[in-house]
Amino acid sequence: MNPWDLRYAEKGLAYGEEPNDFLAAVAEKLLKPGGRVLSLGEGEGRNALFLASKGFQVTALDASWAGLSKARARAAERGLNLETALADLSETTLDECAWDGILAIWCHLPAPLRRRVHRQAARALKPGGVFILETYTPGQLKLKTGGPRELDRLATLKDLKADLKGLEFLHALEGERLVLEGKYHHGPGAVAQVAARRPIA
Ligand SMILES: C[S@@+](CC[C@H](N)C(=O)[O-])C[C@H]1O[C@@H](n2cnc3c(N)ncnc32)[C@H](O)[C@@H]1O
Repeated sequence: MNPWDLRYAEKGLAYGEEPNDFLAAVAEKLLKPGGRVLSLGEGEGRNALFLASKGFQVTALDASWAGLSKARARAAERGLNLETALADLSETTLDECAWDGILAIWCHLPAPLRRRVHRQAARALKPGGVFILETYTPGQLKLKTGGPRELDRLATLKDLKADLKGLEFLHALEGERLVLEGKYHHGPGAVAQVAARRPIA
């Protein structure tokens, strides 16, 4: 069984009701109003529903059936439109030039897969489209306030810049911030954040 299904079968929301702090701060400034947005590793839907409530057309992709079921139920409760795609990123190819925005919020993939998905994501953006990501970095292993325990799933800003070569970086930060996002992300976190746009020409 997918371990994420077990997590999402727990009572409540693993990462809380509210959207990711970084996404909430930048989404409406950087994403095309009403645009098509794909969220990779969306989980229980908090980020997708936040964007749907702001008028974006959102597709939530995740390998967890339980996570996406919760996301769909929450969308229905709130009368929001949400597309879901049950898919494992290791077996998925993203369509090219398809999205105005792509999110990867705490989507901690093993490094070779992360590189492949990020390169695909860069091509899957329409010209002018924006990729928005927050991840824990290797420094998180010492802090123990959430995130994967495997070094291979943690990325530095340098890694991300290499993955996303060709995009124009609008925001690129590596540092520490207080992450209070549900019971699984609960304290000072070592993070990297990226917002990067596909050039128009
Ligand atoms: C830490 S959770 C973050 C969930 C959500 N982005 C949020 O911020 O609330 C990581 C998510 O990535 C998904 N995930 C991990 N590996 C994946 C893969 N290979 N393909 C698709 N989804 C994956 C998991 O199912 C899980 O929902």
